[in-house]
Amino acid sequence: MHQFQPYPVDLLELNPFTKISSEWMLITAGNQEKANAMTASWGGLGVLWGKNVAFIFVRENRYTKEFIDKEAYFSCSFFDKKYKNDLKYFGVVSGRQEDKFKISGLTVNFKDDIPYVDEGDFICLCKKMAAVPITEAHFLDPEIREKWYSGKEEGNLHTLYIGEILDLLAR
Ligand SMILES: Cc1cc2nc3c(=O)[nH]c(=O)nc-3n(C[C@H](O)[C@H](O)[C@H](O)COP(=O)(O)O)c2cc1C
Repeated sequence: MHQFQPYPVDLLELNPFTKISSEWMLITAGNQEKANAMTASWGGLGVLWGKNVAFIFVRENRYTKEFIDKEAYFSCSFFDKKYKNDLKYFGVVSGRQEDKFKISGLTVNFKDDIPYVDEGDFICLCKKMAAVPITEAHFLDPEIREKWYSGKEEGNLHTLYIGEILDLLAR
């Protein structure tokens, strides 16, 4: 297991656009008995309700969603480029089919019972504050439904999860 240091949020220089959109992250949720992770490239970091928050968008059919819904916490783990193939794998295979941690060799670690991926080099540990299902009634731009929720993604809507950032860990 790697040694992580708490990272003060004031020192953060990370660019959320490149970090999340191009480099991607693994969202992990679960407990000591079973956890699951999936790749995500949508989300953000910000401030809400007087807290530093991370927000993520998870489609209805993701196995990881079951773990996020069941538990009070989730994490976002960020990686060095050398793990890009692992992130691709976690983004195309579902934990319903395979134990992705076992097959990839990536490891779940825990801080205060919150699961994260030990090979990450920057970790954001979050406590769920809100889960907001985004329905088609929310779309103001008709292109959204057409582009993101038609064909095989019809009805596979996203839930927005807003998590209070409890800890940032870096190594
Ligand atoms: C680059 C990339 C980014 C992704 N971003 C998201 C995302 O932000 N939200 C989401 O619901 N799925 C996203 N996915 C899809 C999930 O990672 C994918 O469906 C995964 O297999 C779900 O795993 P699970 O069923 O074990 O939860 C992304 C996939 C890739 C490859």
